[in-house]
Amino acid sequence: MNQQQFRIREVQPSILYFGTPVVLLSTLNEDETTNLTPMSSAWALGQRIVLGLGAGGKALMNLQRWEECVINLPDPSLWQHVERLAPLTGCDPVPVAKQGQYKHEKDKFSAAGLSPLPSMTVKPQRIAECPLQIEARVLHIQMASEDASFAIIETGALKVHAYEPIVLGDRHIDPSAWSPLIYNFRHYFGLGGELGKTFRSET
Ligand SMILES: Cc1cc2nc3c(=O)[nH]c(=O)nc-3n(C[C@H](O)[C@H](O)[C@H](O)COP(=O)(O)O)c2cc1C
Repeated sequence: MNQQQFRIREVQPSILYFGTPVVLLSTLNEDETTNLTPMSSAWALGQRIVLGLGAGGKALMNLQRWEECVINLPDPSLWQHVERLAPLTGCDPVPVAKQGQYKHEKDKFSAAGLSPLPSMTVKPQRIAECPLQIEARVLHIQMASEDASFAIIETGALKVHAYEPIVLGDRHIDPSAWSPLIYNFRHYFGLGGELGKTFRSET
């Protein structure tokens, strides 16, 4: 697709999820069990990972109380497990805005058919089926938007776990072996083939 072939028009999409990796976020419940939240508003800069979370969800509530999480990254083969979590919330009762569409679920691991693994530096558990698992601590939470309906959470990576086949040497994840699950305007996609690399790539 290029600009010469198509006219460009103005559009007001009702959603703006333009394609970001899916994260399954582990946070700690009041009773020290782990809640899992599918999310896709996440990005990394250096050792910081910034998360965007809705104010009505259990994940934000948990992070405000216990400032640790695991950022688990599923690959495309796990999309149906992710989708099993999609209509669930760890909140009990279900918030008014979610009533009718969402159900409360305490045991998200069983609901999704995923397995817990203990973490090394934080209390929330990791997800064994996710090839990348990043233990992190909360550095800053900022309520955002006029009505404080979502929050921007800055986290710092503490420890990264990766499946052996996606690790290159000691310090790199192999981009030709690792592939994120992409959330693209509310549809799930994998990555296509490699196109090239940036001038700073070390692999
Ligand atoms: C693929 C996917 C991506 C999502 N991305 C986000 C997100 O970035 N932030 C967010 O707050 N909710 C996101 N959601 C919605 C939450 O998963 C949903 O509100 C869920 O009920 C929250 O669970 P919790 O209340 O147990 O934390 C996403 C859902 C799916 C399925």
